[in-house]
Parts: sequence; structure tokens; C-alpha cells
Amino acid sequence: MAAAIARSPRLGEFYATDTANPGIAALAKTVEVSGKPAATKDLPYFCDHHAIDLVVIGPEDPLAAGLADKLSTRKDGTPRFVFGPSAAAARLEADKAYAKSLMRAGSIPTAEGRVFKDAEAAIAYVESRDDPVVVKAAGLAKGKGVVVPETTAEAVDAVRRIMIDKAFGDAGTNVVIEEKLVGREASVLALVDGRNVMLLPPCRDHKRLRDNDMGPNTGGMGAFCPATDIDDATMSIIERDVLVAIVDALRRDGAEFRGVLYAGVMLTPAGPKVLEYNVRFGDPECQPMLARLTSDPLDLMLRTAQGSLDGARPTWDDRAAVCIVLAAHGYPDDPRKGDVITGIDKAEAMADVSVQYAGVRRLEDGSLVTAGGRVLGVTALGTNVVDARAKAYAAANVIEFEGKHMRRDIAVSAVAARV
Ligand code: AMP
Ligand code: GLY
Repeated sequence: MAAAIARSPRLGEFYATDTANPGIAALAKTVEVSGKPAATKDLPYFCDHHAIDLVVIGPEDPLAAGLADKLSTRKDGTPRFVFGPSAAAARLEADKAYAKSLMRAGSIPTAEGRVFKDAEAAIAYVESRDDPVVVKAAGLAKGKGVVVPETTAEAVDAVRRIMIDKAFGDAGTNVVIEEKLVGREASVLALVDGRNVMLLPPCRDHKRLRDNDMGPNTGGMGAFCPATDIDDATMSIIERDVLVAIVDALRRDGAEFRGVLYAGVMLTPAGPKVLEYNVRFGDPECQPMLARLTSDPLDLMLRTAQGSLDGARPTWDDRAAVCIVLAAHGYPDDPRKGDVITGIDKAEAMADVSVQYAGVRRLEDGSLVTAGGRVLGVTALGTNVVDARAKAYAAANVIEFEGKHMRRDIAVSAVAARV
């Protein structure tokens, strides 16, 4: 997102509150704000003092904590534009039990599910079911709070780990247990300015850690855009029954949505069904999607925040984009920090390639080291998905660090389908 903002011809001063990310530090002036995401105290002052016109909030934690609400009014009482929903609307992501109840109220197609506050009751329910279930921590768990068990014993174990061992902390106070859906997945995102819903090109993420969708769920190991195996009729259904419907359901509940709305959808034989909503760009979906945006990203963000999306005419590169995530040793359970990273410059010098920094820190001697689970995104544009994929892997292969893990099959399904 920072790279997209930085390329806007309309950009004035660009400040970022992430002082530790070397990728962002190269693009923006970084400002220290106290204790994120509780940094909401200092930010209003900073924004007033520097006459900030537009605030773009990337991740879910500060949105759920109400940062958009705090920054949307200037000291003199006039509005300030904020790209990102209010805390009330961000609950759609932060509380899966709430999301489930809104979907039910809005007759939105989703997996049958039940919410449990009590571990014993959840376990009894799992054991009573003949069909496979999925177990989800109801709160925010960085995309890792979902377990798709193979057996009843694994499902019971997942409930125990989430509710009793608190593997995801307070996010696991409640769990949602739902029917296991089968089909292809799609990430369908839209910009929403309070009234207008503008569909963005569909993407596909790869959530499991290892090739062939094996291993635990992660935040996402790679993505491509566009996912052209979703036909227009299905996109229209998703737009109406999944995106517009949830914006309406939120409004009926007193929450107006402004920002980017993300629907994780399973394309089942019975039609698209919602797996989850996010209230932000997906990571890594954001990388291939924004790589294809040829019009001004800041214009879209500003229009979203202002409520003037109806006049927006975004343009997209016809080419395909693929992003490969390079993860640290031990991700997602216990990612190792401090492994020295080399080769980023070489990768960035390759045609149509960009590198996004995530869990990376720069040491005083200038070297870059791993500092989080997903370390880098390597994104490439290509004439088609085959070409984009080849370029992305060629670049990902020249970046090295001890314990580097990447999936080798990102976008393979798309290549097979020649989309
Ligand atoms: P979520 O964070 O809720 O999107 O879940 C993460 C991943 O878990 C999804 O992308 C799916 O791969 C999988 N998943 C979640 N819910 C279900 C479900 N009801 N049936 C099958 N897979 C699911
Ligand atoms: N890639 C899925 C997410 O950002 O939640």
C-alpha cells in the first residue's frame, strides 16, 4: 500500500507510523507514535499539527481499536478523510461471531455455523457431528486462528488449544464451529465509500503453509490476480449477495463502511459462500492487485474516504500478477528472527518485479534480517499467469536467508487452467 501511495502524482508529504519496516522507510517519512495500536493518543495531535488531509489505515488491529473514528475529525471540528472503517464496521473482521450473526440476518450465503463460549459445549457439539467441521477462534488471530481438521479428534484438539490453552490469546474466548465447505477459493475485494460498492479484480490466495494445500493455515503464502476462472455471473452474485448485502446489514446495525471490504469466498457447487470478511486489503492479495493498478491509487483511496467513488474510473494492467511469500523458519508457529537476508537488490533489478518488505528489520550495519513470520513478498507482472509466475519465482530464488520457506505451487492451478 505504501508503494502504491508513493507512486501517486497527487502525493504531497507522506508520513508512515511504521518506523521499523525498511521498505516503508524508503518511501515515507516515518514518525514515532507511542505504543501501537494504542497509539491513538498521539496520532490525532500529529495529524492536526501536520495538517494531514488523508489517513490510510492498513491493518485490522488499529481499525478494530477505533483509530478511524479518532482521526476522522480535526481539532477544529471539520472532517478529515480516513481510508478504513470505523470500529463498529471493523467488528465484521474482529468478531467472527458477530459476522456470522450479520450474515444470518442478511441471508448471506455462508457455511452453517454455531458460536460457543464454553469449551465443553463446543467439544460435545464437535463429537455429535457426523460431517467434518472447521474450528475458528472468533477474534483477531492474524489469519492463523482457523483449523481445518481431518478427524473429530483433531477438531476436539483444536477447540482445546484455542479455548483452553489460549493458543491465540483472547481471540479464542469464543469459537465458531462451522461446516466444512469444498470448492475453489477466491478473494473478492471492493472499495466501499459508505454508499457505493466498487468491485476490484478477483484474486486467489494460498493459505496453507505447504504445497498442494498441506500444512497449517497461514496468513497467506502467495496470491495471483486476476483469478479469471470466476465468471462474470458469479462475480455479480458475489457483488450483490455478499458485498452489497453485508454493507447493508452493517448499515442496518448502525455502522457505515468506508474502506476496502474483503470477502473470502468458497465457490461451492451450490454457489459462492462466505468464509470470512476482512476490513482491509488482504496480504498477500494486495500485492498482485495493486501491481496491476495503472491509475492513481491515492485518487481511489481519497474518493473512498470522501464518498465520491461513483466518479472513479480505475484502470488495470491487462497483464497477470503473481506474488510469492518468503516466510521465516518456523512460521507460522514460532518464526525465527535474525537470519541475514541477501539478494533483494538483485531481485528488484529484474524486469517487472517488485519486492515488498514485511517481517524485515535493518541492523545498524545496514544488513537486513528476518523479523517476523512472513518476511518478504516477491511480486511480478507477466503477459499471462505462466509468465508472471516464472518471473516471480526467478526473483524469489535469488533472495536468500537461512530457513527461507516458500511454496513452489503458487498459481499452478491457474497455469493448469491457462487463465
Ligand atoms: P478464514 O480466516 O475464516 O478465511 O479461514 C482461513 C482459511 O480456512 C480459508 O481461507 C479456508 O481455506 C479455510 N476455511 C475457513 N472456513 C472454512 C470452511 N467453512 N470450510 C472449509 N474451509 C474453510
Ligand atoms: N490473505 C488473507 C488475509 O489477508 O486475511
